[in-house]
Formats: sequence, structure tokens, C-alpha cells
Amino acid sequence: MLLHWPGKEEALQLAHSPARGVLVDERGAPVLAGAGLSGPGAARFPAHVFVEGDNLDALKLLKPVLSGRVRMIYIDPPYNTGQGFVYADRQSDAEWLSMMYPRLVLARELLHGEGAIFVSIDDHEVHYLRVIMDEIFGRECFRNCIVVGRGIKSVQAQFASVAALANGHEYVLVYARDAGARFPNLRVPRETRRPGTWNNHWRGTDRPTMRYPLFGITPERGQWRWSRERSLAAAANYERMLQELGVGPEQVTQEQIDAWYLKERRRGRRVDLLRLSSQGKPEHYVPPADTRLASTLWTDLTAKGSRELARLLGPGIFDNPKPVALIRRMLQWVTRPDAGDIVLDFFAGSCTTAQAVLEQNAADGGNRRCIVVQRAEPTPPGSPARREGYDTIAAIGRARIRRVQERLGSREPWRMYRVVEAAGEGEG
Ligand SMILES: C[S@@+](CC[C@H](N)C(=O)[O-])C[C@H]1O[C@@H](n2cnc3c(N)ncnc32)[C@H](O)[C@@H]1O
Repeated sequence: MLLHWPGKEEALQLAHSPARGVLVDERGAPVLAGAGLSGPGAARFPAHVFVEGDNLDALKLLKPVLSGRVRMIYIDPPYNTGQGFVYADRQSDAEWLSMMYPRLVLARELLHGEGAIFVSIDDHEVHYLRVIMDEIFGRECFRNCIVVGRGIKSVQAQFASVAALANGHEYVLVYARDAGARFPNLRVPRETRRPGTWNNHWRGTDRPTMRYPLFGITPERGQWRWSRERSLAAAANYERMLQELGVGPEQVTQEQIDAWYLKERRRGRRVDLLRLSSQGKPEHYVPPADTRLASTLWTDLTAKGSRELARLLGPGIFDNPKPVALIRRMLQWVTRPDAGDIVLDFFAGSCTTAQAVLEQNAADGGNRRCIVVQRAEPTPPGSPARREGYDTIAAIGRARIRRVQERLGSREPWRMYRVVEAAGEGEG
């Protein structure tokens, strides 16, 4: 099913019309396609890149070097809510769709075959966005509609009746570039550690070679879970643990076992444990878990983006920056630390994505490369941002990157580029 709106044809043409302008470096020298972004013969980007300019032109200008190379795109476009933010956030639905459509077409062209795009959005446009993304990326490439928690404003408490409930969530739509792309299992922190448990050591799959005597029991069918050597070593470990704890098998508690196990693990030892259950059946230990497999419910990520930014640049500088942890979770899922993966955000705002990439690289020794695009949108006169000397949102983003690098002691190089009108353009 296709969505039609007035201006769609023109929007599609815009994706393929030439860029207005050229890319220049800090000294105003043109950055030729490829040069400066990738060294001669270099397979990787040598630096992170900040591009100041309209993202439609920037995507077109970056296309010759980025086509098919970007591992992860994250964007957080204006949600079209009608609110007066530091940035403009209201167009008609048709204008909003016409703005998004060519940019998404280009985004797809930049994605690597194993890559994925994540788009933050809320109720205002999520349904329209999903229909146009199905059209552009293919419905078979849709992966998830992730639910993310957001701060709930309690202004409604003062009224006896309300038109609707307060919104406590928004979404991230995820599309893969190719229908066959697969990503590693993602594990996320649990709020509280799950204590260790015990599992039946017998299972029904019939492997006669895995039937041997254990605590005097030899199964007639099925099998023990582990090899004879591993099981016997695990049973000996359990005896050693009881001895070290100075308690008998009747007295030992699960807390004591978990604490002993975690101490071993801190010393770099991963021990198996095996014992006879109170019902007289061999059972093996399943260690405590600090993480769980992620689902599409990311409501554990609290809305602390504003506080994070306030710590770096002061309060009220930018409205609704995303939490750094949100983007780090995406990075942990679909990018590899040390493969020079390229991460692109072309609605960069205060550059939360840049901070997430720098922090994730610092945490896992990674060499991901970040490319962010933000136009020189003026900050409102009299706003905290303007008072602090940030005339444009791009200036906020650049300042944030500097602060984050200072804090992390990061020396990862950045190239600062701009989209400017080409000589002769804009005349006549
Ligand atoms: C919702 S904000 C992104 C916030 C960002 N995720 C953060 O955490 O700070 C959207 C940003 O996109 C920028 N933007 C909107 N249209 C753009 C365009 N055509 N080219 C470049 N940037 C644009 C706006 O100026 C705004 O800063």
C-alpha cells in the first residue's frame, strides 16, 4: 500500500536532483568527493565528521564516499508536534512527509547491506512514517517498533477531566538495509540481579555416550547435559565450595553459593557446579544474571537526556536531547567495536549521537566513526542557548563534542565541514 500526498512526486525528484552547494573544510577549501574523508586507498574513515548544512544537500554530497558503507543510521527528526522548541517543529503533514521522503531515500542508499536505520518518532507521525519507510526500505526490511519511555509531564493533575492520557512513551522504528541482514543477540542490564538457580542435569535427547554414572546414577535413556569430565569437575567444585564456606550441603544458602561464585568470577575463574538435588537428582548451577535479552520494550531508559546535556553545557540549552544510553544501546546492537563501522546522524541537534559514539568507543576500545549533520539553525533570540553564546544549533553540537572529548580524554580526530553555495549558484 502506498501513501499519497500533495507534493510526493516533487519530493521523490528532490532525492535525485543534484546537490545545491559544495562541501568545504574549515578553511573554506572544497572537500572533493572522497578526498579528506578517506585517505588514499584507506578502507576506513580516518576521522569523525561534523557537517554544518541542510541534510538533503549533505547526504547528496556525501553519497559518493558513503554509498553502501554506513553501518548504522540514527535520526531523530522534528516530530511535527507544533511545539516551539529551539528548533522549528511544525509543518503540515504533507510538508513533513515531503521533507522526510527524499532524505530517507538517500539514507537507504548510504546503508551497508548489513546495516540498519533507527528513527525516533512519536504518535504524531509514527503511522505515516511507517508507511513511507515500508515503501522506501521494503516491508520485509521492517524489524521493530521499539517503545522508549519518556518523561511524563504532570500538568494534567490540575484538571478534573482530560481529553486524553499523558504520553509516557515514544517509538524507534528499525529497518534493516537488506531483508536477510541479521544482528547479534542484544543483552541489556537487569534492574536487579537474578539470583543463581539450579537446572535438571538430565535431558531427553538420546545420546548413549553421554550416559555415565554420576552420584551413583546412570540414566537408562536420555543423557546428562555435560561430558563426563565436565560433570565430575563440577561436582568436585561444589565440594570445594562447601569446604571453603565451612558449611554442610544441608545448611548452605543460595546467597552463599552466589557470593562464592561471583568471587571466583572476579578472580577470572568461571566454575561449573553440580550437586544432588533434595529429590536425589543431579542438578547444575545456573549463575546469577546481571543482564537479560532485550525485547522491544526500552522503557528502562529513563528520560535523562536534558540532565546529561545540562551537565556539559548548562541548563535549557537544547530542548529534548535524547538520552545517550538510547543511542549506545543501538550501537551495542548493530555495530562492531573494531571494524571502523560508520555511524550517521543527519538530524544531529545537540549531537547526542556523537557523544554516544565517543563514549562507546572509550568503553570498548572501539574505532567506530561518526558523521553528524546539523544545519546552522539560529537559536531563538533571548534563549538560554543564545545567552551562552550559541548562535546556532550547530554551534551547540560542536561545543558538546569538545566537552565530551575533554571529559573522556579522547583525542579521536574530527573534521569540520560546511555545505556552502557553489560559486555561481544562487545568481539570476
Ligand atoms: C529533534 S532534533 C534532534 C535532537 C538530537 N537527537 C539530540 O539528541 O540532540 C532535530 C534536529 O534536526 C535539525 N534539522 C531539522 N531539519 C534539518 C535539515 N533539513 N537539515 C539539517 N538539520 C535539520 C533541527 O535543527 C534539530 O536540531
